[in-house]
Amino acid sequence: MYCAILHHPPPQSSHLNLLTSNFSPQTSHLKLLTSNFSPPLSLSARDQAVLWHPYTQHATAAPPLGVVRAEGAWLHTEAHGPVLDAVSSWWVNLHGHAHPVIAERVARQLRELEHVLFAGFTHEPAVALAERLLPRLPGGQARAFYSDNGSTAVEVALKMAIQFHHNHHRPHRRRVVVLEGSYHGDTFGAMAVSERNLFTRPFWPLLFDVTTIPVPRPGREAASLAALRAALTPAAGAPDHDVAAFICEPLVLGTAGMLTYSPHALHELLTLCQRRGVISIADEVFTGFGRTGKLFASDHLPFGGATPDIFCLSKGLTGGTMALGLTTCTAQIYDAFLSADRTRAFFHGHSFTANPVACAAALASLELLLEPDCQARIAAIEAAHKATVPALAAHPAVADVRHLGTVLAVELAGDGPTSYFHALRDTLYQTALDRGVLLRPLGNVVYALPPYCVTAGELAQIYDALLAQADAAYALAQGTAAPLTHSHISEF
Ligand SMILES: Cc1ncc(COP(=O)(O)O)c(C=O)c1O
Repeated sequence: MYCAILHHPPPQSSHLNLLTSNFSPQTSHLKLLTSNFSPPLSLSARDQAVLWHPYTQHATAAPPLGVVRAEGAWLHTEAHGPVLDAVSSWWVNLHGHAHPVIAERVARQLRELEHVLFAGFTHEPAVALAERLLPRLPGGQARAFYSDNGSTAVEVALKMAIQFHHNHHRPHRRRVVVLEGSYHGDTFGAMAVSERNLFTRPFWPLLFDVTTIPVPRPGREAASLAALRAALTPAAGAPDHDVAAFICEPLVLGTAGMLTYSPHALHELLTLCQRRGVISIADEVFTGFGRTGKLFASDHLPFGGATPDIFCLSKGLTGGTMALGLTTCTAQIYDAFLSADRTRAFFHGHSFTANPVACAAALASLELLLEPDCQARIAAIEAAHKATVPALAAHPAVADVRHLGTVLAVELAGDGPTSYFHALRDTLYQTALDRGVLLRPLGNVVYALPPYCVTAGELAQIYDALLAQADAAYALAQGTAAPLTHSHISEF
C-alpha cells in the first residue's frame, strides 16, 4: 500500500509528506504507520468535492479524467492511461504539450519580469510580439491591443469598432452584423454577437440586437451577400445605415460544426463592408496560427482585395500554453482615438493586459510555428486529412465531410438536425475515448484538429477512431446498439 501512496501525487493527508519524506525501505515502522491511512483520493474524486467545470451538467456528467502530465500529443491520465489529444485541448495547442522550448522561455521570463501594469509602462515581450505579428497579418495591421482570452479579444474589437464611429460623430452606427450559427465567446458582448442558442437562453433579454445573415456556404453565397446589402441599406428616409461592424469567423465556423465557406465569398462580404464604411472584424481566435493551412484564414483571401480591419487572436497565440488575447487594428482605426479630448481614448483594460510571461510564450510559439519543419508538418497533416476524406465520405453513416488545412470534420447522419445536443454525442465521445483518443464531438459532428507535432502513426489512430465513431452512429441507426443513457461529457 505504501507504494501506491508514494506514487500518487499529491498525498491527501498532511502527515503523509512527513512520513514519506523520511522514507527509506529499511524504515521498519513505516508499514505500521501507513496502514492507518486510507488510500488517497484520486484527483478526480477530490475535484468532485470542490470544482465546477465549464459547459458541464454536474447532475449527470461522469467525473472528469485527472491528467497528471502531458507530452507531445498525449495526455497522461491517472486512471484511463494515455489519451491522444486529437482536438488540441479546445483548439489551443500547436506544438504539443509541455513543449521544452516554450517551457524554457516562460521560466526565463518569470525570473526576469513576471508582470507589470501596462498603462504607463511597457516591456520587451509585448513590444517584440506586436512587432513580429503585425506585419504577418493581412491588410496593414498597425496596432495591437492585448487582453486575456478569445472572448475579451472580441469584446475589445466590438468596442473599438463602435467607438470608432462614435469618435467620428456617427453614434447611430452601432449595429453589428453576424453570421448565422457563429460563436465568438461567453462574455456579454461576445454572446450578443454569437448565435442565440440554448447555452445563452437565460441571457437573451440582456443581449444587444444584431442583424444575422446566412453563412455563405456553397450555393448560399448570393443570399448571404444580399442579406448584408440589405442590412447596409439606410431605412426609408434615413440618411445613413446603422451598422458599425461585421464580425465573422473567416472560412470556418468552428463551434457551428466546422462549417466551411470559400475565400471568394468572404472577399465579397468584406468588399461590400469596405464600400459602405463598415468595420470588418475577423475573429481568428480559432482559425489563426496555421489551423487552416496558412498562418491566418484571412491569408486565403484573394491577393490585393479587401481585408479585415480588425483581427481577434487567442488560443494558438501562445501555442496553447497560457491565456492571452490580442486585438489588432489598422492605423485608420487607431487614429480615430487620437485627440486632445481625453474622452476619445479607448477606456478598456485588464489587470493582466500584456502579461510578459504569456507574451514570452507567444514569441516562442511563433518562432516554432514559422520554422520550415513546423510548416512542413502542417502541410503533411493537411495531405493526410485529404487522403482520408474518401474513406470517411464512403461510410454509410456519414452525411458530409469538411476539410480545410489541419481541420477535418465529419457530420454523422442521425435522428434530428445537427446540433450540440444531438443524441449521438455521448456515444461518439465514449467510442473514441475507449480507443485512447480524445475526439470531442460537436453534437453529431466529429472532428480532428491535432497539434502539429502529431506523427503519421498517431494520425492513423485518430482516423481509426473517427471511423469507429461512424460505425457507432451506424449501429445506433440500425438499432443494433443502444445509445448511452447518461451524459459522459460536457456540452462543447
Ligand atoms: C471563434 C472563436 N472566438 C472566440 C472564442 C472564445 O475564446 P475563449 O474561450 O478564449 O474566450 C472561441 C472559443 O472557442 C472561438 O472559437
